[in-house]
Amino acid sequence: MVNLHLKLFLLCSLLVLASGHSSRNLPVISFDEGYSQLFGDDNLMLLEDGKSVHISLDQRTGSGFVSQDLYLHGFFSASIKLPADYTAGVVVAFYMSNGDIYEKTHDEIDFEFLGNIRGKNWRVQTNVYGNGSTNFGREERYDLWFDPSEDYHHYSILWTENQIIFYVDNVPIREIKKTEAMGRAFPSKPMTLYATIWDGSDWATNGGRYRVSYKYAPYVARFSDFVLHGCSVDPVEQFSKCDNAPKSRSIPTGITQEQRAKMQQFRKKHMQYSYCYDRTRYRAPPSECTIDLNEAKRLQGFDPVTFGGTRRHHSKRHHHNKLTLNRFTAI
Ligand SMILES: *[C@@H]1O[C@H](CO)[C@@H](O)[C@H](O)[C@H]1NC(C)=O
Repeated sequence: MVNLHLKLFLLCSLLVLASGHSSRNLPVISFDEGYSQLFGDDNLMLLEDGKSVHISLDQRTGSGFVSQDLYLHGFFSASIKLPADYTAGVVVAFYMSNGDIYEKTHDEIDFEFLGNIRGKNWRVQTNVYGNGSTNFGREERYDLWFDPSEDYHHYSILWTENQIIFYVDNVPIREIKKTEAMGRAFPSKPMTLYATIWDGSDWATNGGRYRVSYKYAPYVARFSDFVLHGCSVDPVEQFSKCDNAPKSRSIPTGITQEQRAKMQQFRKKHMQYSYCYDRTRYRAPPSECTIDLNEAKRLQGFDPVTFGGTRRHHSKRHHHNKLTLNRFTAI
């Protein structure tokens, strides 16, 4: 009996070891099981394993793909390796939206990767819109603790009725808890998943100062390890096929205490912009914001005018910044 337990234990340990990087045993699907090409002709290339896809940007076109199903809530993830070297103006986005169904009242949850000049790392932006709230940006921007063009890393979105959590390699980097005041500004209608690469020359790097250089094209973004673990919804009748969705214990449902400490560490060290602290845009932090003194201090160090509540000397310039930020929504 003891022996059997020991054997089982060893077997389980081996299985855990064997699964390596995706040690959480996420229910990974092939590209064809969950996604279809959206645009870009042969700038989308499916690899032989069926589980990875390359999307590229060259002088002719960008490219992208879209999930076959609409989802109401769930956990959505992909491993992504971004193009290296000079990537100014290049934008890679992994996001949820229902903009093609609800033109004026769409919802959106975004990961946006903003390329940079050589020697400077990619920046990551997250954002959320609900019921067409595009004049109310909820952007945050961060640098990462690794070079995202060197290897694949997991980027994930957990979306429930009451909260949205963004993860990088299983570390939560941002949590949005729905408040009453947010109302429909919290995404509430079924959305599809998108992944795209495109030319964001006009605004992506220092507000358009550095443009895409096609000398270095094609820019290739690699995607793998797809997880679409949600309630899929019939687009016409809008009934949910949720009960059929396979349950997986490796899907997170919220932030553990240990993870919360990691999230605070990340934000204290890597956050470069948050609307919650931007007094030039919102006089008081919007209701869903939790103000953290460490985060505030770091941002004030970058830009005391925007984040400090210091007297404004350059209101014109900030007005311009605001417009630039709003353009981040134009996917
Ligand atoms: C959503 O937005 C539309 C258009 O702006 C507005 O008419 C409607 O009242 C909003 N819905 C809710 C529930 O807030």
